[in-house]
Amino acid sequence: MSQNTLSITDNRTGKKYEIPIEHGTINAMQLRQIKVSDDDFGLMSYDPGFKNTASCKSTITFIDGEKGILLYRGYPIEQIAEKSTFLETAYLIINGELPTKSQFEEWTYHITHHTMLHENVKKFMEGFRYDAHPMGIFISTVAALSTFYPDARNIHDPESRKLQTYRLIGKVPTIAAAAYRHSMGLPYVYPDNDLSYAGNFLNMLFKMTELKYEPNPILERALDVLFILHADHEQNCSTSTMRVVGSSHADPYVAVAAAASALFGPLHGGANEQVLRMLNEIGSKDKVGAYIKRVKEGEVLLMGFGHRVYKNYDPRARIIKRIADEVFEVTGRNPLLDIALELERIALEDEYFVKRKLYPNVDFYSGIIYQAMGFPVEFYPVLFAIGRTVGWIAQWLELLEDSEQKIARPRQIYLGEKMRDFIPLEKRS
Ligand code: SDX
Repeated sequence: MSQNTLSITDNRTGKKYEIPIEHGTINAMQLRQIKVSDDDFGLMSYDPGFKNTASCKSTITFIDGEKGILLYRGYPIEQIAEKSTFLETAYLIINGELPTKSQFEEWTYHITHHTMLHENVKKFMEGFRYDAHPMGIFISTVAALSTFYPDARNIHDPESRKLQTYRLIGKVPTIAAAAYRHSMGLPYVYPDNDLSYAGNFLNMLFKMTELKYEPNPILERALDVLFILHADHEQNCSTSTMRVVGSSHADPYVAVAAAASALFGPLHGGANEQVLRMLNEIGSKDKVGAYIKRVKEGEVLLMGFGHRVYKNYDPRARIIKRIADEVFEVTGRNPLLDIALELERIALEDEYFVKRKLYPNVDFYSGIIYQAMGFPVEFYPVLFAIGRTVGWIAQWLELLEDSEQKIARPRQIYLGEKMRDFIPLEKRS
């Protein structure tokens, strides 16, 4: 008997099955042979929330949740955050290898020259209320780009995929900055191609009447590292959404908009906004204990804590905590940090959190930095989306090049009514 198989006995029929094990998984379609009769549909697996289901094979990002390890194409996140830049990391995540000098120069040139938006996009944005949530503006505008670039529907054309990759990475900061300027009632700022990716983003956000915006190098680097930390995270909710929409062969703009919609949820990328609201609600260190009590009574969640995969400290949270000190050197210390540190201290000692392996995740400290840098709390999920657009694109490209992938169409366990005849209105009691 081969070692790499699962021996199954169906006690309903006494039949035995040998199911191959590959990469620590069984192919769910192998279950369909397990039947009680010839007209039986066969077994399926049931996995709400996909807690134990691999949806694809990928070579992009590896996470070891128990050990708190995160690798982009095999490189530890700690080394990339320290030694790389966001655009170089974007190249690595999308192309699989670190770029040579000439490859990086070409990559940077193309992205830099796709930062402009069609002037009609400004008119489109004017339609939003002054207080529209910037994530709503971001999602809608990214989707609208689908109408400006109908060539994006040629998803089987590698050159078209490459062009949309440049356009999306180049334009998401411009869209994000325009959403911010719209909410502040300020004129839009055009991209400055002399600046870095993060520097130009700060320029489009905060340039006022000066002739040339000069980003603070510490804030510029902090933002660049934050983009790196948010770039990809294997099959999270929003990336899975990108793959599901991409599997129907929709264009990458509507797929990214769908992914960003999933990211907006407070259990996912919207958590960074909710963390700040939670810290402001707590208000002071001495009230942390009362809030923890409410969490343990199941009344509220400790936003920014817990993770489907990490059952250890999220390595990104550790790096973000370090960035906070550098940013506060420039902006001044954010007093909310003291509340966050007290929350973490108590939670890491408390049996409720220890038993459930709840640790700070990427969203717990990022919002404190964003607030210190002057971003409104509603803008935090947009900042997450800018970095994650790279991961969404990389996973979309991998999906399209994977011959095993098909349109995503799960099944269900039907517990509804059996077939019955229609009852005319006059006969209904
Ligand atoms: C991101 O998947 C990714 O990779 C996501 C992400 C990425 O980079 O893409 O890392 C980004 O989304 C980070 C997560 C941001 N969300 C939050 O911080 C919101 C708060 N966290 C929780 O909602 C929760 O931890 C999730 C959604 C993150 C994970 O939920 P799971 O895996 O479905 O776990 P669960 O809800 O089944 O929780 C297990 C237990 C439950 O208690 P019991 O029913 O066993 O008694 O832990 C409890 C939960 O109630 N629990 C929490 C909690 N998180 C889980 N209790 C209090 N506060 C929390 N934050």
